[in-house]
Amino acid sequence: MTKRSYEIDQMISAKAIAARVEDLAREITAHYEGTEKLVVVGLLRGSFIFIADLVREIGLPVEVDFLEASSYGDAMQSSREVRILKDLRGEVAGRDVLVVEDIVDTGFTLSHVTALLRSRGPKRLEVCALLDKPSRREVDMKATWTGFTIPDEFVVGYGIDFAQSNRNLPYIGKVRFTEDT
Ligand code: PRP
Repeated sequence: MTKRSYEIDQMISAKAIAARVEDLAREITAHYEGTEKLVVVGLLRGSFIFIADLVREIGLPVEVDFLEASSYGDAMQSSREVRILKDLRGEVAGRDVLVVEDIVDTGFTLSHVTALLRSRGPKRLEVCALLDKPSRREVDMKATWTGFTIPDEFVVGYGIDFAQSNRNLPYIGKVRFTEDT
């Protein structure tokens, strides 16, 4: 009987991620220079490691908030339906906001979330995404800052899961399916 399992090949090392996070934080700090306070909104759950590293490199007063939107559930394909499972605790009206996302795939999640937050009247709203898969895009959506542009591979680690596993890998890995006999 054949059993489908998988292995993970490293795609982006922890060191390369750390270096890129520093670059992104420098650009974000320069962009919002002089802000009273930057509201950094992490999209749960995938962004939790990225936002933790990023805010520690941002040289501005920062407020951290989280929003949970789900389009995938535990499935591998986007349902295209974006649900808000947990809304922000704080206000964004009249404030400087940075949305932090782990990966932009079809773009449905970010386009829904940014439309929602823009409807609340922020002063400025930008997006920082660690990974971008432009070949998968179905709606016109581009983050202000992108860490790495990647091909259409199934990736895990540094916050990103495969069926709720592997989020704790310190690097970004590529899933390779194997068949055991
Ligand atoms: C994943 C990922 C992004 C979104 C990207 O979230 O973290 O938020 O999908 O896909 P899209 O561009 O096609 O909308 P998921 O719903 O799997 O939740 P999670 O962050 O809790 O893993």
